[in-house]
Amino acid sequence: MTRLALLTGGARGIGAAIARRLAEDGLTVLIADLEIEAAQATAAALPGKGHAAFKLDVSVEAEVESLFDRLEAEHGAISVLVCNAGVLILPGGQRPPIWETPLEEWEKTHAVNTRGTFLCARAYLRRRLKTPVQDGRIVTLGSVAAQLGGYRSSSAYISSKSGVLGFTKAAAREAAPLGITVNAVAPGVIDAPMLRQSLAPEGDAAMAGAIPLNRLGTPEDVAAAVGYLVSPAASYLTGVTIDVNGGYRMQ
Ligand SMILES: NC(=O)c1ccc[n+]([C@@H]2O[C@H](COP(=O)([O-])OP(=O)(O)OC[C@H]3O[C@@H](n4cnc5c(N)ncnc54)[C@H](O)[C@@H]3O)[C@@H](O)[C@H]2O)c1
Repeated sequence: MTRLALLTGGARGIGAAIARRLAEDGLTVLIADLEIEAAQATAAALPGKGHAAFKLDVSVEAEVESLFDRLEAEHGAISVLVCNAGVLILPGGQRPPIWETPLEEWEKTHAVNTRGTFLCARAYLRRRLKTPVQDGRIVTLGSVAAQLGGYRSSSAYISSKSGVLGFTKAAAREAAPLGITVNAVAPGVIDAPMLRQSLAPEGDAAMAGAIPLNRLGTPEDVAAAVGYLVSPAASYLTGVTIDVNGGYRMQ
């Protein structure tokens, strides 16, 4: 039987690359995204059968619970959850100083990035308590911005992604007795839409010069790490963060 993966924010960018990677590895991929038309197009282009897309706002508790109910009734138990949906609010492409950050932008960023990860992980774990799966996995998306304090990202984004990294460790402890691993991937400077809010292509060479591997990352670089974490080969890793950043930050 193929393993079922629920991937949030899979319509485009890093999420779309994760969808392709998981499908190539033989998983059935259910994409949940605000942008339903783009999500449907991404799902339709995946190799293999059974992939589908659904509209979801990860920050809304009732939507998350009802989508999990529907998916598990129609498709069966979800084995793999990838919490990739995220937002970075950068008005004018500039990092806003804390003293100019509106409360609504702070709240919205945390609602999607941190609350959304919590709501999806909670919905998944609630159902796995009742219906266990083989090789259960949660993968969250952190960011090098959270690890470094960021240079281009807002304080709200940095704070929200730090919350994701802490939550990932807490979830790893609590999910371990269920045989479920919980790990994070922390992308560095990745050529995907979120980065392009603050970096025009003319700036790529200078940016690459600050990265030991001398290039920006690709969505596929991030997807490869997610693919490994959800594979049975990664069964003894939990509570870790895999940095996919070309050496931009070393521990
Ligand atoms: N691009 C980078 O350089 C970079 C670096 C570090 C971390 N990340 C993280 O990787 C992930 C993907 O980044 P990306 O560059 O592909 O971003 P992106 O903006 O291209 O894609 C984000 C996806 O999430 C969806 N989304 C946004 N809000 C949502 C919500 N409330 N509910 C459901 N879906 C929602 C969007 O529709 C979109 O499909 C994010 O979590 C981001 O924070 C990206």
